[in-house]
Amino acid sequence: MKFEDLLIQNMDNLPSSTVKEAALYALNGKGKRIRPKLIYAVARGYGIDPRIVDKLACAIEMVHTYSLIHDDLPAMDDDQLRRGRPTCHIAYDEATAILAGDALLTQAFYLTSSATDSYKINSYCTRALSQYSGAAGMIYGQELDLKAENLDLDLNLIKKIHFNKTGCLLACPLIMGCYAAEKYDDAKTWHEIGLMLGLAFQIQDDILDVTSNEETLGKSNSDLENNKQNICRLMPVEKAAAMMDSLYDNVKKRLDDIQDFDNTFLNAIIDKLKVRKN
Ligand code: IPE
Ligand code: IPE
Ligand code: MG
Ligand code: MG
Ligand code: MG
Repeated sequence: MKFEDLLIQNMDNLPSSTVKEAALYALNGKGKRIRPKLIYAVARGYGIDPRIVDKLACAIEMVHTYSLIHDDLPAMDDDQLRRGRPTCHIAYDEATAILAGDALLTQAFYLTSSATDSYKINSYCTRALSQYSGAAGMIYGQELDLKAENLDLDLNLIKKIHFNKTGCLLACPLIMGCYAAEKYDDAKTWHEIGLMLGLAFQIQDDILDVTSNEETLGKSNSDLENNKQNICRLMPVEKAAAMMDSLYDNVKKRLDDIQDFDNTFLNAIIDKLKVRKN
């Protein structure tokens, strides 16, 4: 089954409601599905059946989509366009969008708790998803991001924000893939690789925010008007792009540290990411 169909099918247990409709609306937008692609690439790299990570892949995409719905809310980035369409709170209303985000987050844990036949894998993945998405991870990054709108630009602060708000949700699928393959000892290396990948990915997001446009991005680009700690406010775009390139290259090098792992699939994803336009 195609991932797009799988994602929607994994919402089937929820009764029809406006909140469910709004959650499906956000999920159905044209997302790149990077996080699911990462977990499938880790599964393939370890040589396990990719179907083992189907539910985990849906769960991480649901958490990511929830983070986008809330990120766009008036109290946060106050954006009108996402995945080529009006943001969830514009298409529905603010209260519905908040609840749709909550619904996607809780559904994700419903999925990880029974994702595979192994209780150990399920519990490790559920814990990882909680840590990386919660107030020690993505939520912490979002808090720092909002508070930092009033602070002086600072490279260390930018890195801290980017590691947390973005790196954590990119590290999570790598770690869950590693757990699904029962390679528990590799988790620390995947954590480091994930944060580095997240920093590269968010620097690129910052660059695209100031150099591209809504039509190409499919989302509002509001960092400058929101006074965000966008790295391009601190250094020229070319310098930020060079930093991004070297981070992506370092991620590729670090993949060699994982034993008994075929990194072809992840390398292919990184090569595509490097030249992404949205
Ligand atoms: C956007 O993530 C938010 C960031 C962490 C930069 P993506 O660029 O993966 O968004 P979609 O899923 O493709 O819409
Ligand atoms: C948000 O970063 C990352 C999330 C946790 C959603 P941004 O605010 O830069 O993401 P976009 O540019 O709106 O997608
Ligand atoms: Mg934001
Ligand atoms: Mg935003
Ligand atoms: Mg952005």
